[in-house]
Amino acid sequence: MVIKRGRFSNRLGFVAAAAGSAVGLGNIWKFPYETGENGGAAFLLIYLICTIAIGFPVMISEIALGRKAQTDAYGAYNKLGNRKWGLIGAFGILCGIMILSFYNVVAGWAFGYFVQIVFGDLLSVGLDDYSAHFGAYVADFWDNLIFSFAFMILTGLIVVRGIKDGIETASKFFMPLLFLILIGLIIYAMTLNNAMEGIKFYLLPDFSAINIKTVYSALGQAFFSLSLGMGALITYGSYIKKKENIVKSAAVVTLADVSVAFLAGLLIFPLVFSQGQQPTEGPGLVFVALPKIFHEMGPFMGKFVGGSFFLLLCFAALTSTISLLEVPVAYLVDEKKLPRKRVVFGLALFIFIIGLPSMLSQGAVPFFTNFMFYEGGNKTFLDVISDMFSEVGLPLGGFMLTVFIGFKWKTKNLSLEISKGNPGYEGSFLEKFVNIVITTVCPLLLGLIFVVTVLQKFLNVQIFG
Ligand code: PHE
Repeated sequence: MVIKRGRFSNRLGFVAAAAGSAVGLGNIWKFPYETGENGGAAFLLIYLICTIAIGFPVMISEIALGRKAQTDAYGAYNKLGNRKWGLIGAFGILCGIMILSFYNVVAGWAFGYFVQIVFGDLLSVGLDDYSAHFGAYVADFWDNLIFSFAFMILTGLIVVRGIKDGIETASKFFMPLLFLILIGLIIYAMTLNNAMEGIKFYLLPDFSAINIKTVYSALGQAFFSLSLGMGALITYGSYIKKKENIVKSAAVVTLADVSVAFLAGLLIFPLVFSQGQQPTEGPGLVFVALPKIFHEMGPFMGKFVGGSFFLLLCFAALTSTISLLEVPVAYLVDEKKLPRKRVVFGLALFIFIIGLPSMLSQGAVPFFTNFMFYEGGNKTFLDVISDMFSEVGLPLGGFMLTVFIGFKWKTKNLSLEISKGNPGYEGSFLEKFVNIVITTVCPLLLGLIFVVTVLQKFLNVQIFG
C-alpha cells in the first residue's frame, strides 16, 4: 500500500512552518538569558557569526537532503547513504524526542503564566517576590502537570491534522501575530527609565568576556534556535516541491529567526535594567523580569500587555513543538507504515512521560533537582538533558550531517538538488561558500568544538583556560 505523503501548499507555507519551527522558546526565553549569562553583546556577536557562517549553509543542506530523499530523517540518510549512515538520522530523532520532552515543560510554564496573568493573580504578587514566585511555581506539581500535558495535547491536535491543514495553517496564523505583539512591547519598553543601560549591555561588545564557553554556548544556541542538527528541516524539506527555491526559503527562515531573537533581547534587557535587576538571572529571566513590569503597568494594562506577551510565548513554542513532534511521527509513518493518528498521540504521550523527570527537577523532587554536578554547579535533570541533546547533540548532529554530505552523498549532488528551483546556483559564489563550509569548515570546527565541549563542560578538563 502506498501512503500519500503530505505537502506544504507552496513556498509561503513551507517558510511559515519552518520559521515557526525555528522561532520559539529558543528565541524569546533562551536567547536573552544565555546572552545575559555570557556577557551580552559579545555573545550576540558570536551567535550571529555562527548563524550566518554555519547555520545558514547547514540549513540549506538539510532542506535539500530532505527534498531529495522525500522521506523522514532516518530514511533520508538510509536512502542516500545506507543503513549505517541512517544512524545519524536516528540520533537526530532521539535528540528531537529528548528536546521535546523538556521543551514542553517550559512551554507549560508559559501557558501557566498566561492563565495566571489573565485569569489569576500573578499581577498582585509583591514587586520583590517574583523570583520567589517563579521558583515556587516551577516546583509545584499539579500546575505543571496540567499545563504541560495540555500543551502536549494541543501539539498533537495540530500535528494530527497533517502538513498542510495542521502545521502550515497554524504557522501562517501565529507567526505574523507574534511579530506584531513583539514590536508593540519593545516600543513600550523603550520608554522606561534606564532602558539605555540595557541597550548598551546588549549592543556594545566587551571582548574580554569571550572565552571558549561563549563560543560553544553560542554555537549550541544557533543550532537550537534554527532547529538544526536533528532532522526537523530534513523532514519539513521532504514536504516541498522541486520547483521551490531552497536558498531563498532558508534565507527568509534564518532572517526571521535572527530577527525575533534580536528583538526579544531588545525587549528584555531594557526591562531588566530599568528595574535594576541582574541580566544573569538564568532560565527564570523572562518569567521574573517581565511579570514585574506588567504588575507596574497597573491591573488593566498589565493584564492586557502581559497576557499578550505570554500568549505570544505560547504561540512561538507551539509552532516549534509541532515540528519537534513531526520528526519522530514522520519516521514511524514513513518507515513503519503506521497510521498517523495513532502515532501522533502515542508519541505525544510517550514523550510527555519522558519529560516528567525534567518537570520534577525544578524543586519538586530533590533527586532530579540536584541531578549532577559539573561546570562548577549543580545541574537539574532538565539542564542535563538540554546540555546533552541540545547544546552538544545538535552541533554533533550538524557535524555528522556535513561528514555525510562531504564523504558519502557528495557536494555535487547537493548542488544539483539546490539548483532545482534555483537555476543560477551552480557556479555561483554561494555554491562555493556552501561547499567549503560543508566539506571543510564544519567537519573541522564542529568536530573540534564537540571534543572541547565534552572535555571542558562535562569532564572539567580546561583546555582553553
Ligand atoms: N528552534 C526552536 C526554538 O528556538 C527549538 C527547536 C529545536 C525546534 C530543534 C525544533 C528542532 O525554540
